Amino acid sequence: MTALKNEAPLLEVSHLKQYFKVSNSFTVKAVDDVSFQIYKGETYGLVGESGSGKSTIGRAVIRLYDPTAGQITFEGMDITKKKLDKGTRTTLRHDMQMIFQDPMASLNPRKKVEDIIGEGLDIHHSYSSMAERNEKIKAILKKVGLAPELGSRYPHQFSGGQRQRVGIARALIMNPKLIIADECISALDVSIQAQVVNLMKDIQEETGTALLFIAHDLSMVKYISDRIGVLHLGHLLETGTTDEIFNNPVHPYTRALLSAIPAPNPIVEKRRIALEYNYKTSGIDYNKGTSHLVGGTHYVSCTDEEFLKWTNTHQFDQFMTSKRGTYSEAQEYYMPKDGE
Ligand SMILES: Nc1ncnc2c1ncn2[C@@H]1O[C@H](COP(=O)(O)OP(=O)(O)OP(=O)(O)O)[C@@H](O)[C@H]1O
Ligand SMILES: [Mg+2]
Repeated sequence: MTALKNEAPLLEVSHLKQYFKVSNSFTVKAVDDVSFQIYKGETYGLVGESGSGKSTIGRAVIRLYDPTAGQITFEGMDITKKKLDKGTRTTLRHDMQMIFQDPMASLNPRKKVEDIIGEGLDIHHSYSSMAERNEKIKAILKKVGLAPELGSRYPHQFSGGQRQRVGIARALIMNPKLIIADECISALDVSIQAQVVNLMKDIQEETGTALLFIAHDLSMVKYISDRIGVLHLGHLLETGTTDEIFNNPVHPYTRALLSAIPAPNPIVEKRRIALEYNYKTSGIDYNKGTSHLVGGTHYVSCTDEEFLKWTNTHQFDQFMTSKRGTYSEAQEYYMPKDGE
């Protein structure tokens, strides 16, 4: 679904910082000044390598953490405060659901799957009779492609893909406005990954729920997302529609990520250049970056100087298909020298 930009966003994250004090002298800045919005019914893909802060953002949004700084609003409600009032907490627990990366760890092994799925309904008293509750559970099992009879089994009796479907069912049954899916397909076999992503896409089209889809695999994110945010070392480096990011990546890190995607065509794959990116030697300081508009809804975080350099890169595509090379070679190739 295309985001309606004239609507108020469903979720707005502004200048979110999430720091963890590990010792007296050491603080991990897991998320550092991150801002993005998610509109009703859209899928926002959050990508970045391991340790970039993806899960921390998800957990902060669903308020498993108290944010260090910044603001999170959901449906216009400020949900940043340390002590949320009961009404806000209940709305949040109902309208925002999370699907966790490891389904085995997030499903209670001693509970039958139907009770795991029905837990949210029980907590929120969302039914008038047990018959209605059980009907709802059966319907949702069917929707995620599981036979209703499987509801009486325990999580360990399911395959990895089936368990992930249980996780999805548990989130969906609440009819949430936003689902945070934290690498919900990473642990699955590739063929099952596609099945689960297709399932989520279908369900989303049917129910109109918005999705924060967290992953490190850009190719899957491309397939499911309306917009994408690229995260590295706790900083959101680039954000835009999937087309904007894939057709015109501006940040060198985004380019490196894109260049790492294998091409299905062997001839193209042979010519593909996997660009290298090393933050330490790149000369880039994420803390100095400010948001720059590339066009449309496409923003990149960098200094004015970097912006000028990085947006003057028409030869980049040509380079991608003409020879193999490293990021520094590419940089030399597509970045005009002073005075040119
Ligand atoms: N509770 C915590 N205490 C201290 N440091 C933490 C805590 N949670 C996360 N971190 C650190 O914050 C950084 C970001 O972690 P996070 O789990 O958000 O990364 P991620 O992008 O989800 O990675 P992955 O792809 O491996 O799941 C990491 O350096 C991690 O070690
Ligand atoms: Mg994670």
